[in-house]
Amino acid sequence: MQNPSQLRAPSENRAKTLIEARDLTFKVAAAGGEVNILRGLNLDLHVGEAVGLVGPSGSGKTSLLMLLAGLERPSGGTLHVAGQELGKMGEDALARFRREQLGIVFQAFHLIPTMTALENVAVPLEFAGRRDAFDRAAAALQAVELGHRLDHYPSQLSGGEQQRVALARAFVAEPKLLLADEPTGNLDIGTGKLVMELLFGLRRRFGTTLLLITHDHGLAARCERTLMMRDGRIVQDSAEMEDSPEDDEPQDGPAAGP
Ligand SMILES: Nc1ncnc2c1ncn2[C@@H]1O[C@H](COP(=O)(O)OP(=O)(O)OP(=O)(O)O)[C@@H](O)[C@H]1O
Ligand SMILES: [Mg+2]
Repeated sequence: MQNPSQLRAPSENRAKTLIEARDLTFKVAAAGGEVNILRGLNLDLHVGEAVGLVGPSGSGKTSLLMLLAGLERPSGGTLHVAGQELGKMGEDALARFRREQLGIVFQAFHLIPTMTALENVAVPLEFAGRRDAFDRAAAALQAVELGHRLDHYPSQLSGGEQQRVALARAFVAEPKLLLADEPTGNLDIGTGKLVMELLFGLRRRFGTTLLLITHDHGLAARCERTLMMRDGRIVQDSAEMEDSPEDDEPQDGPAAGP
């Protein structure tokens, strides 16, 4: 049995690493004392991969996403995303990192209620000083089939439409990495399917690396690699299970497989 926490050094032909977490811990202070949420998590994600992350409620999936997005800070260990060590960056650098490298889609959409769909999608580009922010935002909304809803406010949109606006916002700056936390969790099955088709289509178009948190194992299986999280660690990795035996360290027992 291989311990997924004992990661091997990347081999030469292995794709470029986008996320590298080593012995990552995350603790928070709570009324009843300290809560250890991530407990020595190791993770490597490669450029261009689509990875589904599953695990029981409370296992730390959303917390991991918050660290990857630089919205929370590690308590220990190291976390590199796109070559930058997030734990060592100041708030301004983290904001720039998010703007330049990341798209995030949450379960609850998180649109700005006082802005139209078009304005919501243009926000990241405006922060980046792009003069074509509104043209690009309109094109991004057309790509999620919402070209006819540019001037609608979030309260005037259905849940599925709001999530499509969130998708357009996440992809508009063509990020390297898309983090999605149960993006279909608030949607009915049919609407969820449409949102996921759009998400996978955009990711293919831009070659975006995807980390998709989901309770839907069918959805996770649409990703080329699936990870299982439990008690603040990655406990199963389909890529480890598929690796050919000659990649592995010498094992005690007889090698399984063909
Ligand atoms: N700010 C906080 N203070 C105290 N405990 C927290 C805090 N944030 C998260 N936790 C705890 O950390 C654990 C992991 O939470 P997290 O939201 O990362 O889980 P999850 O895997 O995303 O679960 P779900 O599938 O239900 O979304 C939970 O037990 C949660 O109660
Ligand atoms: Mg969660």
